[in-house]
Amino acid sequence: MRKTFGNKKVLEGIDFDVETGKSFVIVGGSGTGKSVLIKSIIGLIMPDKGSEVFIEGKDITFLPLSKREDLISRYGVLFQGGALFDSLSVWQNIVFTQLHQKQMNKPEAKAKAIKKLQLVGLGSEVAELFPAELSGGMQKRVALARAIATDPDIIFFDEPTAGLDPIMSGVISELISKCSHELGATTITITHDMNCARRVADNIAMIYDGKFIWQGEGKDLDDSGNTYVDQFIHGRPSGPINLA
Ligand SMILES: Nc1ncnc2c1ncn2[C@@H]1O[C@H](COP(=O)(O)OP(=O)(O)OP(=O)(O)O)[C@@H](O)[C@H]1O
Ligand SMILES: [Mg+2]
Repeated sequence: MRKTFGNKKVLEGIDFDVETGKSFVIVGGSGTGKSVLIKSIIGLIMPDKGSEVFIEGKDITFLPLSKREDLISRYGVLFQGGALFDSLSVWQNIVFTQLHQKQMNKPEAKAKAIKKLQLVGLGSEVAELFPAELSGGMQKRVALARAIATDPDIIFFDEPTAGLDPIMSGVISELISKCSHELGATTITITHDMNCARRVADNIAMIYDGKFIWQGEGKDLDDSGNTYVDQFIHGRPSGPINLA
């Protein structure tokens, strides 16, 4: 994957595989291109020529939107900013796809939304509220409930625990882990939260300067032997990572 905006190179040859049902985690500093990477994979951003994205052997890199419908229905995406619809209630946000595609009637859809709310630690009383009435962490969890609402088999989580308290971060990390390890979904998670990364990752990569500077198994994160990874996971202000 390569992506340049104007003359600014963001992704300079990122290369990885995720096996079906496995959980892949990407860590890296702010502004290193993690969100751009996810958006380029799902087709929200057009990657540079020469980039390739394969799903089950099929090249989907430059498929037009009109040919992506089947794919899109297999994806769940938690966007970094939540991206909830302001004018819809919480439950309507969560089952937006099912309502839109008329897959179920309203009472069924609402019951499904409430089940998903429970999974992210929110009670049924939240269902009727609107996004503006929620705290930041609640919005994040509603967006997470929406990402998993269709039981997708490929799920992207962009900073799923940002803004959550440590216990709720643990609950959400467990939920993501369960999506792949119990429910069989293939997941790609971006996070700054090392506890989340350790709990969720089968495999993990660190992005720096447009490339993966290290890739390995989740269990090897603390023993990577990579000075960039060490600086990042220990939050050291000085080291090989250039903050300028
Ligand atoms: N649509 C766009 N047009 C121009 N530049 C963009 C666009 N989207 C992202 N960028 C630039 O690409 C770089 C990477 O952005 P990205 O959002 O992927 O960072 P990130 O790694 O997700 O950071 P954070 O951890 O803060 O979320 C940034 O310098 C950003 O300004
Ligand atoms: Mg981001």
